[in-house]
Amino acid sequence: MTPDVRIVEVGPRDGLQNERAMVATADKIELVDRLSATGLRSIEATSFVSPKWVPQLADAAEVFAGIRRRAEVRYPVLVPNEKGYERARAVGVEEIAVFTAASEAFNQRNINASIDASLERFAPVLARAREDGVSVRGYVSTVLGCPYQGEVPLADVVRVARALHAMGCYEVSLGDTIGVGTPGKARAMLEAVAAEVPMSALAVHFHDTWGQALANILACLEAGVAVVDASVSGAGGCPYAKGASGNVASEDVVYMLHGLGVSTGVDLDALAETGRWLAARLGHENGSKVGRALDAG
Ligand code: HMG
Ligand code: MG
Repeated sequence: MTPDVRIVEVGPRDGLQNERAMVATADKIELVDRLSATGLRSIEATSFVSPKWVPQLADAAEVFAGIRRRAEVRYPVLVPNEKGYERARAVGVEEIAVFTAASEAFNQRNINASIDASLERFAPVLARAREDGVSVRGYVSTVLGCPYQGEVPLADVVRVARALHAMGCYEVSLGDTIGVGTPGKARAMLEAVAAEVPMSALAVHFHDTWGQALANILACLEAGVAVVDASVSGAGGCPYAKGASGNVASEDVVYMLHGLGVSTGVDLDALAETGRWLAARLGHENGSKVGRALDAG
């Protein structure tokens, strides 16, 4: 197992994109700033998608312009097309994430495009990013199941991950959007992708809908992955994947990793404090078991 894992904190994006109530811009900024002080090295700050599709993050430009960026932290943002790229660059974004899926049905509902059309849409974005020195991450959704199509063939996951990597994504995050995967399947999926894309360019992104996320992460760590996406207090879900719950809680991942002797650079107490603050702000129960155990202890 790798001695060092980079957590990609996706709470400000994956977490907040699915909130029913509008979260104040100032709270979004405070969330990112608090996370920046925990030792995290990657924080997905917001999303420059269409506000018609995700009104929750319509204030992406204000949020990004308002955060206090630290030199040692990367702040990727989601970008679906050139329009999103231009909005992001106008406020100084230096890393973006493009996103598509291994299932046609999900992709149509999430970004209104076929898989191939989405890849074509990304080509000019990646070309501009290369020219501008902007780093690009890529997401593949529905890698272990689709809410509309059901089973997703491994070959489709591998094809899309390979395409994103070949286009210039420095890292491809494999997303179990609806959290249906189990450890054996998660590991087999990762290994199939790693046969075509270097393991060092892969990340895993587990939603915890079926309670399998930590077990899936452990299976993938054993297979060699070293980058794990997670969401503070377990916030989130995808508005176009009905019933999908939040990502695995970052606090729970950090606790597990430190228990395994794997370093993350993250201060668990500071992270848990941020999770507690966020849950209170959103009026939710803290979705992190570690956060709740620390409160009880
Ligand atoms: P569309 O309707 O096909 O595109 O949406 P369009 O070009 O016709 O645009 C519609 C309107 O939006 C137009 O405005 C555009 O200007 C505007 P109008 O002319 O009607 O006034 N528009 C934009 N405005 C601001 N920023 C933009 C932008 N683009 C268009 N970037 C589109 C296509 C891709 C834009 C849309 O489907 C979309 O934004 N989808 C995003 C859905 C989303 O954010 N889903 C959640 C993120 S993915 C996820 O959570 C999964 C992940 O976590 C991994 C996992 O868990 O699996 C990453
Ligand atoms: Mg997600």
